[in-house]
Amino acid sequence: MTKIKRIGVLTSGGDAPGMNAAIRAVVRGAIFNNVEVMGIIKGYQGMIEENFIKMESHSVSNIIQLGGTILKSARSKEFLKPEGRQKAFDNLKKHKIDGLVVIGGDGTFTGARIFSQEHDIPVVGIPGTIDNDLYGTDSTIGYDTALNTVIESVDKIRDTASAHSRLFFIEVMGRDAGFLALRSGIASGAEAILLPEVETDFSNLQVFLQNQYKKKKKTSSIVLVAEGEKMGSTMSIAEKVAKDHPEFDVRVTILGHTQRGGSPTVYDRVLASQLGVAAVEALLDDQKSIMVGIMNREITQVPFNQTLKNKKELNPGLLKISGILSI
Ligand code: F6P
Repeated sequence: MTKIKRIGVLTSGGDAPGMNAAIRAVVRGAIFNNVEVMGIIKGYQGMIEENFIKMESHSVSNIIQLGGTILKSARSKEFLKPEGRQKAFDNLKKHKIDGLVVIGGDGTFTGARIFSQEHDIPVVGIPGTIDNDLYGTDSTIGYDTALNTVIESVDKIRDTASAHSRLFFIEVMGRDAGFLALRSGIASGAEAILLPEVETDFSNLQVFLQNQYKKKKKTSSIVLVAEGEKMGSTMSIAEKVAKDHPEFDVRVTILGHTQRGGSPTVYDRVLASQLGVAAVEALLDDQKSIMVGIMNREITQVPFNQTLKNKKELNPGLLKISGILSI
């Protein structure tokens, strides 16, 4: 029999569409199992500042369709210090919270791992980030929605690129990972995709772009650039191409935080619902320091150690076809 009577739930780091659906599933999954839930406002910082609210089933009504997070999010500097974490733990004890569900990305799980090593509290993580850069899950909550947001924008930019015969560099998020760029690049038919994981030779890129125009008689092109691309910023790459090739009419669009907002897709809502319930069940099953994820459509439990130690690789099959389709 589990000892857990009351859990806390928080969202931390960059918000991702579907976080609300996950909060809803945690709250309802807990109440279904006669466990009380406290919502912690503003992530780990809220734990330190004792910013807790009691969550009922109705507290999470009408939020499954909303982007952002009703619990708000933050990146807490204080939680990086042992004193901050001690304060957070004392507050959890004061409110009789004996288990924690954290929704976020690798920064969130790094905090969760150290917190549960230092203090006697089980923590289960739910992967929520548009970057999809967490090992141990095929998809993170928010990734699918962000992909759809990206391709909607790229499709629109393609209209104007084509009308004006322009070369567009479009930057998508992902400071360390190219998952968003690769998948949305394939889905939007980008002529080239620049990724942090794959070294790009600048002169090869120039030759490739020239060939697109000369040999393939293209009049417009889209180059999708992941934010973390190693050659330099999107703006600097575009400026260099424009300087070396006055024949190209170059423009840059940085999609930025538009990718983090919006109503979650069906996929993200369902994934968040599955993982929210799975996180509660894992806590009730005496699991600790794990992330719940999805692999080959099955719910998985992966120790934080594994998730944080291993780097998730880009799908080699997708990399291959992105090369084939852009010839
Ligand atoms: O990790 C999610 C993410 O959206 C990254 O893709 C991006 O680099 C970063 O967050 C931006 O963070 P902020 O909103 O703090 O500028």
